[in-house]
Amino acid sequence: MEKRTLGRSDIAVSALGFGCWAIGGEWQGGDGQPLGWGAVDDAESERAILRAIELGVTFFDTADVYGTGHSEEVLGRAVAGRRSEVVIASKWGNLFDAGTRTAGPGPDVTPGYARRALTDTLRRLSTDYLDLYQFHINEGPLDAAAELRDACEEFVAEGLIRAYGWSTDDPERARLFAQGPHCATVQMNCNVLQDAPDMLALCDELNLAAINRGPLAMGVLTGKYASGAALPSGDIRATPPPWLTLFRDGGVAPEWQARFDAVRDILTSGGRTPAQGALAWLWARSPRTVPIPGIRTVAQAEQNAGALRFGPLTAEQMKEIETLLGR
Ligand SMILES: NC(=O)c1ccc[n+]([C@@H]2O[C@H](COP(=O)([O-])OP(=O)(O)OC[C@H]3O[C@@H](n4cnc5c(N)ncnc54)[C@H](OP(=O)(O)O)[C@@H]3O)[C@@H](O)[C@H]2O)c1
Repeated sequence: MEKRTLGRSDIAVSALGFGCWAIGGEWQGGDGQPLGWGAVDDAESERAILRAIELGVTFFDTADVYGTGHSEEVLGRAVAGRRSEVVIASKWGNLFDAGTRTAGPGPDVTPGYARRALTDTLRRLSTDYLDLYQFHINEGPLDAAAELRDACEEFVAEGLIRAYGWSTDDPERARLFAQGPHCATVQMNCNVLQDAPDMLALCDELNLAAINRGPLAMGVLTGKYASGAALPSGDIRATPPPWLTLFRDGGVAPEWQARFDAVRDILTSGGRTPAQGALAWLWARSPRTVPIPGIRTVAQAEQNAGALRFGPLTAEQMKEIETLLGR
């Protein structure tokens, strides 16, 4: 499988990653808002991880809060005995209660908490080091972040992590973290319908890898949830919180559906599935992108890994998409 290097680090990863949010299973906010993607089958999640590894996927992105620790535990079980074959990224910053599978109250942005969270993450993953540690608070305060960046440098010096980054869509925040020599990445929302030109330019300027969350626009780009499709209760997309505008009334919001429909033929060119086309757009967008589609079945792992066979979209197709989307 094609490889990418994580920014200024020497960490090589497959050009396709594996997003581990959904495999955390069901959990909720303090207000009862579902924060998971509905029920999952842990045995199938583990099979999906192993199949992805078999197909050449080496990069796994999780967070301590996904399923309030459960995602990390499932990933740790699946890769037990194969630690050196995989590159594991996790995140910290959100408080949670694993007993009640509830997130909150609020974030904790202190260095002391970052260290405690890292200890817990390593235990759940059954490992003694993390390849990439990411600050999970998208709009976290800049002054606290400067201290967290320095704390991450200490974690690197102690051998607890190899590199770190911020999961943020704000170039100013990413720039602050990147002042640390071992900051290697920024994780940003980016897909064919939601481009991130400022963040990608920053990655070029500062030599950071662009880890792409939401590469399938949370399922909009799979074509599965067109209006009328009923998402199960317990899935965050069925009752979306205010920030999640991609879904409404149990399916894809009509304005996003229209944009997907406009580019569907290009995405499915050459026999690709829509999801494979969405990944092909990201690989064509920049040599720094590492999409991490959320995967929870063997079939999804196979389809997404299969996307690399087709290669990136052509420059002409990329241009046509810009025209069709009016960008
Ligand atoms: N703040 C943060 O740092 C943050 C935020 C969001 C995400 N992330 C990371 O980014 C990852 C991916 O983002 P995401 O989960 O938001 O959304 P995504 O990857 O854009 O979309 C996931 C959706 O795609 C479906 N899917 C995946 N592969 C498919 C395939 N080949 N065919 C059909 N459907 C397929 C999934 O299946 P189902 O329809 O079966 O559910 C799900 O609906 C997460 O897992 C997480 O690791 C990080």
